[in-house]
Amino acid sequence: MRDFKLELAQSINKHVPDMEVNDIIKTIEIPTNSEMGDYAFPCFRLAKTFRKAPPLIAQELADNLEDIDFIENVEVVNAYINFFINKEVYVKTILDEVLDKEDKFGYKEPNSRGNIVVDYSAPNIAKPFHIGHLRSTVIGNSLYRIHEALGYNCIGVNHLGDWGTQFGKLIVAYKKYSSKEEVEEKGISELLRIYVLFHEEAEKDPSLDDMARDYFTAMERGDEESLELWRWFKEVSLEEFERVYKLLDITFDSYNGESFYNDKMEPVIKELEDKGLLEDSEGAKIVKLEDKDMPPCLITKKDGSTLYATRDITAALYRKETYDFEKAIYVTALQQNLHFAQWFEVIRKMGYDWADDLVHVPFGMVSMEGSKFSTRKGNVVLLEDILNQAVEKTRTIIEEKNPNLENKDYIAEKVGIGAVIFDDMYNSIIKDIQFSWDRVLNFEGETGPYVQYTHARTCSVLRRADINLADIQIKDIDYSVLTDPATVGVIKAISRFPQVIEEAANKYEPSFVARFLIDVTQAFNKFYHDNSILSAEESTKNSRLAVVAATKYTIESGLFLLGIYAPEQM
Ligand code: ARG
Repeated sequence: MRDFKLELAQSINKHVPDMEVNDIIKTIEIPTNSEMGDYAFPCFRLAKTFRKAPPLIAQELADNLEDIDFIENVEVVNAYINFFINKEVYVKTILDEVLDKEDKFGYKEPNSRGNIVVDYSAPNIAKPFHIGHLRSTVIGNSLYRIHEALGYNCIGVNHLGDWGTQFGKLIVAYKKYSSKEEVEEKGISELLRIYVLFHEEAEKDPSLDDMARDYFTAMERGDEESLELWRWFKEVSLEEFERVYKLLDITFDSYNGESFYNDKMEPVIKELEDKGLLEDSEGAKIVKLEDKDMPPCLITKKDGSTLYATRDITAALYRKETYDFEKAIYVTALQQNLHFAQWFEVIRKMGYDWADDLVHVPFGMVSMEGSKFSTRKGNVVLLEDILNQAVEKTRTIIEEKNPNLENKDYIAEKVGIGAVIFDDMYNSIIKDIQFSWDRVLNFEGETGPYVQYTHARTCSVLRRADINLADIQIKDIDYSVLTDPATVGVIKAISRFPQVIEEAANKYEPSFVARFLIDVTQAFNKFYHDNSILSAEESTKNSRLAVVAATKYTIESGLFLLGIYAPEQM
């Protein structure tokens, strides 16, 4: 596709050879007020080279520029040269490209770039999948899709929390307070109940903690009885997690969780030792990070058992070896900032320069009606309950608004869940979220349902026009009827998509895509309001239908990048 900004910069560059094209591109502004043109070039910086007043330079430069086919008019206002785009050329360029690429507009050639490991979701076995994990799951899934769209090959890893001292606690708790029947009947909620109970009891009787430690050490040594219980807890948990992934329509390429590294840590600990990085601290082994102003990274406890960080270091080495990644992205709550900063530094100290390719993407907390989520106290809000409620509430709204809709259950599921996902990624991910049903399910606000509804509206226009998407042809478009402000507005909004995908990846911010979708949706609704489509004369109708189709493709694809399904009716 033509790059207007680049072409404009090249054209300016001919008269301003001192400034590089890239510099000129960065200097060109997009005026917020379109009466000031579509592009503006401020001449202040040229005063030094030309030794003249900037307004004078602007005037002379504007007089000298040769004609550019997509620029219709040039105006000088003080030190600014304002460029007005030829709307027909502009609309044609963008619209033809979208119709050609369809729902892959803005995407790069698949598998044209290297591997990226995305580590996300990673709930903990025997603990409920709570709404905090939703963030990691949906943000990670979106970053996965965004990077795939940019041509990378992504490997999604669910680094399950399936190893660690808590399993010792769980085994003790199970033996003391539960039974096979109860766990089979109640699943994770029973495991959680006894885990919470264990903590209460251990406060009174610290010997419980010692027993728990012994059980975990036994697990690490391969004690079959403990391992069998552990495996069973894992199975029970995974069954519940899978239900949630199915609802969210999320899959992983690998389920290698923490336990996978159990037999791989020893050589890594030895490597740390050999490289002179390990120090003894009251029987525990640590890597000191004083030079980086961080507390030491704990590698083994005094009873010899390994830690979360030990497994993360081992996993990173394994993944580098297995996937030769260009980047490894870890999506977790920002409470883990120190953990990641510490072990990334350990990798660096081991002499691996790819430590620079490890990226921690932290996100803020979700609270509900002011309460925080904590596993220990047991007052958790289960993700599955939230999702099911979202579906139910959506179902009620559909019943009111569109009782004759076919496939009501399916649509309610897609819209309800899409609403929760969209809300999660509408703001910069580092911000805390106050979950609110009123906001999430508002069909008119800046929400998932609003975007989905607009997508359904594009589909309904095409249906009523009795035309298939595939039959929308570039040759049937009369671009001269697509130059009104509302139409140019939609095209302009859509045109940003390639750049939005790129920026969302660079900043690890799916919210850029979410905001982009709101812009496209609002622009489309203005276009829809201002222009008659189906009742217009044939050639105008076909041309406007092409805009509708381009909008449909873009919204569908943007929602896809967020992990949200775009229903054709709702
Ligand atoms: N299981 C952890 C938790 O729930 C998240 C794991 C994130 N991934 C990692 N490689 N540390 O907090």
